[in-house]
Amino acid sequence: MEKLVIKGGTKLNGEVTISGAKNAAVAILPATLLIKGTCKINNLPNISDVKIICNILKELGAKITWTKPNEIIIDTREINCTKAPIDMTSKFRASYYLIGSMLGRCGSIEVGLPGGCNLGARPIDQHIKGFEALGAKVTVGQGKISAKSSKLIGTSIYMDVVSVGATINVMLASVLAEGTTTIDNAAKEPHIVDVANFLNTMGADIRGAGTDVIKINGVKELKSEGTYSVVPDQIEAGTFMLAAIASKGNILIKNCIPEHLDCITAKILEIGGNVEIYGDSIRVSNNKRPSKVSVKTLPYPGFPTDVQPQMGVVLSIANGTSIINESIWDSRFQYTAELNKMGAQITAQGKTAIFEGVDKLCGAPVYASDLRAGAALIIAGIIADGTTEIYNIDHIDRGYENIEEKFKKLGANIQRINE
Ligand code: UD1
Repeated sequence: MEKLVIKGGTKLNGEVTISGAKNAAVAILPATLLIKGTCKINNLPNISDVKIICNILKELGAKITWTKPNEIIIDTREINCTKAPIDMTSKFRASYYLIGSMLGRCGSIEVGLPGGCNLGARPIDQHIKGFEALGAKVTVGQGKISAKSSKLIGTSIYMDVVSVGATINVMLASVLAEGTTTIDNAAKEPHIVDVANFLNTMGADIRGAGTDVIKINGVKELKSEGTYSVVPDQIEAGTFMLAAIASKGNILIKNCIPEHLDCITAKILEIGGNVEIYGDSIRVSNNKRPSKVSVKTLPYPGFPTDVQPQMGVVLSIANGTSIINESIWDSRFQYTAELNKMGAQITAQGKTAIFEGVDKLCGAPVYASDLRAGAALIIAGIIADGTTEIYNIDHIDRGYENIEEKFKKLGANIQRINE
């Protein structure tokens, strides 16, 4: 079992380069199934979720060659299997993108019920509603989902909730459908735009991604031999921005898209931190105790739920009492119990947590309950007095590339230890 051991009390200083976005990559890779040919994808984050999807794509018949550490060539000419291995697909959430892609490609797919971070109930009713509206028959039972269709026909679909996954999945299923599909009340996250850009680069006709109405005009086929670069990770950039604030440090965050970070920047300025933008880099610095703020998580362009735990660390040491209202997930405050072991004073009930800011955190053994909780605990360990040991770090490896190396370069004393 691996753990991270952090000797705390460091002000983070220096430069960090942001990797490609996990949540875009885990959708773009299944989207390659819609191409009967090859494509090159670069700026691909080298994380365990990406490796699992590549292995699943291989099981379905794709040929994958890693040409560089962050670049692959995928050949999807010979997809010959419509049953994705249950054990592999039920390990992570984004396996549901295989449904939209394979419905489009083969008209049939069976996958395990999606796993991923335990953030409370994670229904997929809106995905199923979309597939059924397009003409697919979907069956859920015995831990798996099967979807079949002889022909998908474009239609109008209204999403009852703003869902990243359902928006992308319906977009995937519609690309090769007959006629036009309209998604109303679509999610607008940067990775939705990125998946649409990828598909359009390969010959799809998708308009309006990034707004709440997306129109997909079905095309007969996608073209082969395209190259695409995955968008920088908004959440990873947000993690380092808040690490700079919490540690009273100064970090130049390179390869990011500052507009995607506006909602985080706004809160950092409210807290009393500094943000300077230079093209595709952003410098975040702070030299005083953060001020209290209220935060409510919302779909993009609101404050991202995936940066909520990292913000929670900042508020645990802020001057005064702060409140976070989590509006997306039922169970996203599990990390607060771990921060309390480190001396924080946080009361979480339902979707609200109250942070009574303390002067400092103290190192302790803690457990990462999910991916972003794990990132938050790393920041907590870096600013705490003494030594913090973080367990369950496979969650962190699912979504952050070389995380301890990146923090080490910024001055953190962090080691990965195999017990
Ligand atoms: C994606 C992200 C996840 C992020 C989340 C919200 C990926 C792989 N994961 O997850 O990191 O936290 O967006 O930004 O991109 N809902 C339904 N029915 C559905 C689908 C969703 O009721 O069919 C609800 C969910 O319970 C949740 C809300 O809609 O309350 C948003 O979920 P959604 O945007 O779908 O999240 P994911 O795509 O699973």
